[in-house]
Amino acid sequence: MAESSNFVDLAHHLSPETLVRKANPLKDLIRVALENPHLVTLANGNPHSSLSPFRRVDFEVASLTATDDPVSSWRALGPSAPTQSLAVGDPSDAESTQLLRASMQYGHGAGLEQVLRVVADLNAFYHTAPAHVVTMTLGNADAITKVFRLLGAPGDYFLADEFTFGPMPLAADAHGVRWVPVRIDAGGIIPKELERILEEWDPERGRRPHVLYTTPCGQNPTGSTLSLERRRRIYELAQRFDFIIVEDDPYYFLQYDLPNTPPADPAKPFPTSFLSLDVDGRVIRIDSFSKVLAPGLRLGYITTAPLFRPHLVNLIDFSTQNPSGLPQVLLTQLLGPGGWTLAGFDRWVRSLRHDYQRRRDHFLALFETHVASTGWAVADVPEAGMFFWVRVFVERHPRFHASAPCTDANGSGGQARVVARSNAKEFMAELFEACVAAGLLVCPATIFVLPTDGTFDSESIDDRSNFLRLTFAGSEETMNAGIPILGKVLNEFFGNPGKPDQSD
Ligand SMILES: Cc1ncc(COP(=O)(O)O)c(C=O)c1O
Repeated sequence: MAESSNFVDLAHHLSPETLVRKANPLKDLIRVALENPHLVTLANGNPHSSLSPFRRVDFEVASLTATDDPVSSWRALGPSAPTQSLAVGDPSDAESTQLLRASMQYGHGAGLEQVLRVVADLNAFYHTAPAHVVTMTLGNADAITKVFRLLGAPGDYFLADEFTFGPMPLAADAHGVRWVPVRIDAGGIIPKELERILEEWDPERGRRPHVLYTTPCGQNPTGSTLSLERRRRIYELAQRFDFIIVEDDPYYFLQYDLPNTPPADPAKPFPTSFLSLDVDGRVIRIDSFSKVLAPGLRLGYITTAPLFRPHLVNLIDFSTQNPSGLPQVLLTQLLGPGGWTLAGFDRWVRSLRHDYQRRRDHFLALFETHVASTGWAVADVPEAGMFFWVRVFVERHPRFHASAPCTDANGSGGQARVVARSNAKEFMAELFEACVAAGLLVCPATIFVLPTDGTFDSESIDDRSNFLRLTFAGSEETMNAGIPILGKVLNEFFGNPGKPDQSD
């Protein structure tokens, strides 16, 4: 177990922007007032709490007492499913009145003390990280962009999976961070490839990449999950090459058994996070309540070594400010002794994964019947998350062509840039249009290609973009309607409604 005093000094990873940003002096005063409730304060222009028109807020949430599988009964019983009421501001309860007042008042960047406590308990329930600290966020998209600014300077290089949660790297791109793609396979990042990039790093290019951004469970878009062995290997590389791991893990709780295997022990532990392996303080873990409670809450949290928290708080105090009070109190009440408690939350997320597993299996059965059977596409079965990564066999198309690998001189810094040698990308664009024309929207792989200058790879990613991301998070009706359309479009697209020759 890591003590924070054993953490290594990682201050050299902070960006120049972070180092010059000062604390917001007004927010500092709020902190002084919160830490010293006996002070008479004439300092801040806080609206008087008696003038806020809210006395009590009731949240009606699923009751978990009646069943072992709360998500199924919540869905099946609909409006008659039993609920429990979580109130804040009950005038007969001083603590609850105080909580509502605090949530409705100006706060400071890390979040309400009460919610920070429950989130720290949540971390202790699932991870081994006694010396790390937490900061509330407006969900993972917010957290990621802040962490990129915490660490990234113009001209820095960051590493990420070659296909990644597309919009996020673009946020760092905009302030001058450049991306280095790491090859992935069905098991996620290939540690050997990561090692190769770092070992062969040419100092002429600039500082060696000092941040790895990755989603270890149910990666978006590929659905892959890193094994414990790969996580250990990647962590060792982080120590050896001194980089920070940004662990964006919104699908942590959505873990499934493989089809046709006996159901796992319901008490089976969740995967060992990078956070739990972190003895140095070099993992920045990003959690979200979007996938397990509701994305509209806009609530999540970042777990870091203590070094990083004041800098994150400074950035928050000058940008979004702390998350909205109501989601914070809702979470506090939900996980607190009057709500589900941590044990109840655990039952909820375990039950949720059954529900998504059922959806995944429904998708899989339809996919095998209508798509895989055509011979034009395949997909691995995801063990976590919300996505199938469907490989389309563009090379089986009569109009497909590929030449020998080649480069041009347009890479940055005089480096050679690999160029596409096949028409795979054009095919995928055509297929996308054909799907839309047939009434189906799919996510083309090109959306998720890490934005790079093309100088790091031996083969252009355009030649490997023959994938579609499809989600099983929707309803059975949507899957029943959509997957047959894909099979039909593929048959028409390949110009052969029969079974193809699969000899290649
Ligand atoms: C990998 C990944 N990171 C971050 C997010 C954003 O999550 P949030 O809703 O918490 O902002 C998503 C949402 O789909 C995601 O898939």
